[in-house]
Amino acid sequence: MSEKLNNKVVWITGASSGIGEALAYAFSAEGAKLILSSRREDELERVRNACRNAELVKILPLDLLDVPSLEQKTAEAIACFGQIDIMVHNGGISQRSLVIETDIAVHRKVMELDYFSYIAITKALLPHFEERKDGHFVVMSSVMGKIGTPMRSAYAAAKHALHGYFDCLRAEVSPMNIKVTLLTPGYIQTNVSKNAIAKDGNPLGTLSQNIASGLPADEAAQQILKAVTKGSYESYIGKFGGEKIALWLNRFLPSVIIKKAPGLSPK
Ligand SMILES: NC(=O)c1ccc[n+]([C@@H]2O[C@H](COP(=O)([O-])OP(=O)(O)OC[C@H]3O[C@@H](n4cnc5c(N)ncnc54)[C@H](OP(=O)(O)O)[C@@H]3O)[C@@H](O)[C@H]2O)c1
Repeated sequence: MSEKLNNKVVWITGASSGIGEALAYAFSAEGAKLILSSRREDELERVRNACRNAELVKILPLDLLDVPSLEQKTAEAIACFGQIDIMVHNGGISQRSLVIETDIAVHRKVMELDYFSYIAITKALLPHFEERKDGHFVVMSSVMGKIGTPMRSAYAAAKHALHGYFDCLRAEVSPMNIKVTLLTPGYIQTNVSKNAIAKDGNPLGTLSQNIASGLPADEAAQQILKAVTKGSYESYIGKFGGEKIALWLNRFLPSVIIKKAPGLSPK
């Protein structure tokens, strides 16, 4: 058990499945108190019941697309245990469609869910962190927050926006002992591609091969806990493979990635 996480209060959005669910189990095993959020209350209950310290887990259902409600939801989250130490912004949706065919409503929906909802919660929570001179924002970006590949324009734009916003926030609040960790996962085994929306806003409904052969979510959660306890500014999460190489190529040889980035097929 990590001394750094024992008794900490951790609020996780997108906790009903995938990476968020795996993070709930991993933080609970470390003795953290949890607040679990997403839309599906029954799934949150299932996750709570499977946590090692289920008696230290509260459920707070919310819809991240209802951005005006998030200030009140943040007040309710703080009231659960009287404080929040770590905010894990994780809930989100991906997208699969070419730029030319994608309805602008798809761009707005992905931006609202993957970017503006995080901003709304952050602004509502920041006074609490500043008052306590303590707090940690953990932000689920993606390899797509650092590079762009075909079929991901709305998703990559929202994830890139997170880096701009949270890098600025870190520069403002680090003197107040408030930390920001941006996570850039590669392929992790979850339903993310099934739930991704297509050009018309409907779910894709298929599990991509890259996701199916990605890092298991429980292993991703262990990598994330390491990044959180170290207070990393930014951390790649995933296998040592094509996505990690793509990050390196994008930084140092960007022309290569357009043609050959390994493992980054358009579909
Ligand atoms: N899996 C990967 O390969 C991968 C790679 C890079 C980044 N990521 C990021 O990791 C995060 C988690 O995704 P995942 O892979 O674990 O996929 P997932 O299994 O589809 O999980 C998505 C989570 O977001 C929640 N969510 C979706 N829409 C919501 C809404 N309107 N309001 C509240 N919660 C909502 C879902 O819960 P409800 O349906 O109950 O609301 C679910 O818990 C996302 O930000 C994703 O972009 C994933």
